[in-house]
Amino acid sequence: MHARTTLITGNADVRAVLDDPRFTVPPVHDAAPASPPPARSRPCLAWLRSTAVRFSNGERHLRRRSVVLDLLAGLAPLDLLTDAAERTRALSLHGSTGSPGSVGDAVVFAPVAVLGARLGIAGQDLAAAVDAVRAIAGVYLGGADSDRLPSADAAVRLLSGLLGTDGDEERTAQRIVLLVQCCAATAGLIRNTLALADEHRPAWDRTPPVADLVTETLRFDPPARRTRRVASVDASVAGETIPAGTEVVLDLAAANRDPAVFADPDRFLPGRPDTRHLAFGHGLRPCPGSDHATALACGVLDSILTP
Ligand code: HEM
Repeated sequence: MHARTTLITGNADVRAVLDDPRFTVPPVHDAAPASPPPARSRPCLAWLRSTAVRFSNGERHLRRRSVVLDLLAGLAPLDLLTDAAERTRALSLHGSTGSPGSVGDAVVFAPVAVLGARLGIAGQDLAAAVDAVRAIAGVYLGGADSDRLPSADAAVRLLSGLLGTDGDEERTAQRIVLLVQCCAATAGLIRNTLALADEHRPAWDRTPPVADLVTETLRFDPPARRTRRVASVDASVAGETIPAGTEVVLDLAAANRDPAVFADPDRFLPGRPDTRHLAFGHGLRPCPGSDHATALACGVLDSILTP
């Protein structure tokens, strides 16, 4: 447990923490952690978390992040956009989408299937892979009850098998990580964009370009609303001392409505000139998949919103 928790909401203050190497990523905690699984049941959730770029610091983080960047360099955002649009259109033809505001899971999780296919998962395994990714994504960031952990362990095993290990455990883990990091956040972005488009449509002469809708949704209603750091030594933010061991909660959603950065911050305004939102984080370890996420969401949304 951390001695203290501090909430940071200002855009410049959140940026300062994310730029500062004295603030590191804290370990993940579950509500009631299950006892560690025996070594022979690896790979499992605990293995994924301990090998994932997301929860690593220092040299390990740099090494794992370079693996992630290498994997992402092989996935062209434009290809992902095209795949996501085609997949969504195919789902719509089968009656899976209702009104734009109430699309089904198959549509909002289409980005996971697209990414899975591009990472080499065979077509007949994609549905099981998406279910497995969702099981992991639901508990990955912590706070999970122990009864949800065994299915996440099984899901990590399934995905390791489908992606193949190549004898390089660390690389396999980052391939699973790409799917898991994509899952809830990109689905949330699609859902939030559709909800805001539904709400504001009566006031529009015509629907704004999908890219503008997505960018403003990322600012106005970001799918990843908070992140955390821990002060590794005594530090200060905005003149306030933060003692070593303090957990710092960074409110990305609040920072995205900071009036010091955004004029009329509580107004949903697609195409607004200032796009310095923090939905993808910032600084030493921003989201490396931001272009991929945006492309996947735009592909899905283009198919739904563009007649
Ligand atoms: C709308 C969708 C997404 C949002 C809002 C989002 C947001 C974020 C944020 C805020 C972070 C930084 C967390 C922190 O600083 O503590 C992050 C990290 C990360 N994201 Fe994303 N993300 C999205 C989609 C994706 C996708 C599609 C991928 C991969 C294809 C991805 C891969 C990652 C990875 C690997 C990290 C960890 C980076 C590191 O620790 O160095 N994300 N994401």
